[in-house]
Amino acid sequence: MSQPRVVLKAGREKPVLAGHPWVFSGAIARIDGMPADGDTIDVTDGRGEFLARGLLNRRSQIVVRLFTRDPDEDLTPALLHRRIAAAQTRREGVLPRDTDAYRVVFSESDGLPGLIVDRYGDVLAVQCSTLGLQRRKADVVAALRATLDPVAIVERPDAETMTREGLTIPASPLHGEVPPSVEISEYGLTFTVDLLGGQKTGFFLDQRENRRRVATYCGDARVLNCFAYTGAFGVYAAAAGATQVINVDTSVEALRLAERQMVGNGYASAGDEYRVGDVFQVLREYRERDERFDVIILDPPKFAHNAEGVLRATRGYKDINLLALQLLNPNGILATFSCSGLISADLFQKVVFGASADAGRPAQIIERLTQAPDHPVLLSFPESEYLKGLICRAL
Ligand SMILES: C[S@@+](CC[C@H](N)C(=O)[O-])C[C@H]1O[C@@H](n2cnc3c(N)ncnc32)[C@H](O)[C@@H]1O
Repeated sequence: MSQPRVVLKAGREKPVLAGHPWVFSGAIARIDGMPADGDTIDVTDGRGEFLARGLLNRRSQIVVRLFTRDPDEDLTPALLHRRIAAAQTRREGVLPRDTDAYRVVFSESDGLPGLIVDRYGDVLAVQCSTLGLQRRKADVVAALRATLDPVAIVERPDAETMTREGLTIPASPLHGEVPPSVEISEYGLTFTVDLLGGQKTGFFLDQRENRRRVATYCGDARVLNCFAYTGAFGVYAAAAGATQVINVDTSVEALRLAERQMVGNGYASAGDEYRVGDVFQVLREYRERDERFDVIILDPPKFAHNAEGVLRATRGYKDINLLALQLLNPNGILATFSCSGLISADLFQKVVFGASADAGRPAQIIERLTQAPDHPVLLSFPESEYLKGLICRAL
């Protein structure tokens, strides 16, 4: 029986040679041998020349996720250990001192496709989003314990990627006694991370630097924090001297925590509001009531989940941005984000421009924002850039 390997179609080896870590089904000429999904597998060109090695999953559109272009390297416990330790070392240069919550491993960008590791103080929250990594979970946990010495590790599967890989895994402890929540420090502010029930792995670490940037416009401002989750942007705004912060989200639990965090940080004020509601409707209500704000933050969840959903997503972004621009005082600030990887920064800017034109409200871009540096973008893998933001001044 021939050696298991994935043989690419002629001409389809170029992205692999350029360092792109994904092999889609359409690039594959044939799969030799009888490899099982979850196995490591060699990828070759049509002449049988070794190109790279990765994890196989025929149930996914991304059939192979590459982890090395070195024929002598395999996904051993030693390699996991080495790559996690290297990722941790790289984080040391980019994090603020008074912060103990950050992304230690960002999947492909750190050479470990499918592995996300977020550190919340002494606890790690982990996503193993490929079948191959699920099979090697014990090795991943051993490598994390040896390199980062956490008191506990919790698995927080990402629903979207799990479905793509044909997996269903609940949140579960992988090591130690996992507390339901943990206190973290970010730029000296304190936040509670819900380790078992919170969204993502519990906290939106990717917005850390953006929260800080947006706060600089919030002194003496009436701030509307839309899609607030646990109110982190709102706490930063209050710390910067906002006169009123209104947090809006559909999640009651998230807003309850938002209020506790405002109190915990010593910034609760009588005028603050925690509104459970749909931002699309709440913004319309404010428009009907002729309300005005100095700063509006729009940080919605991912609107585009696949290529077919991009048009619909752009309509959603345009709608909320248009409404927000109409609600701003002269020279008011719109801090607007998209975390849809499929919406490029260029397209997002065009959508916000469309919103500004239709609202009859000219605006200036005064800052362009992206994901925090512990979520690095691999140049050979532009898909790793997903978060984009604009701070605009409505004229
Ligand atoms: C990307 S998160 C926001 C993260 C937050 N800005 C932070 O820094 O922690 C998106 C939030 O939008 C909320 N959400 C989703 N759809 C919504 C809607 N239509 N109206 C209000 N909130 C919504 C979710 O519950 C979630 O908390």
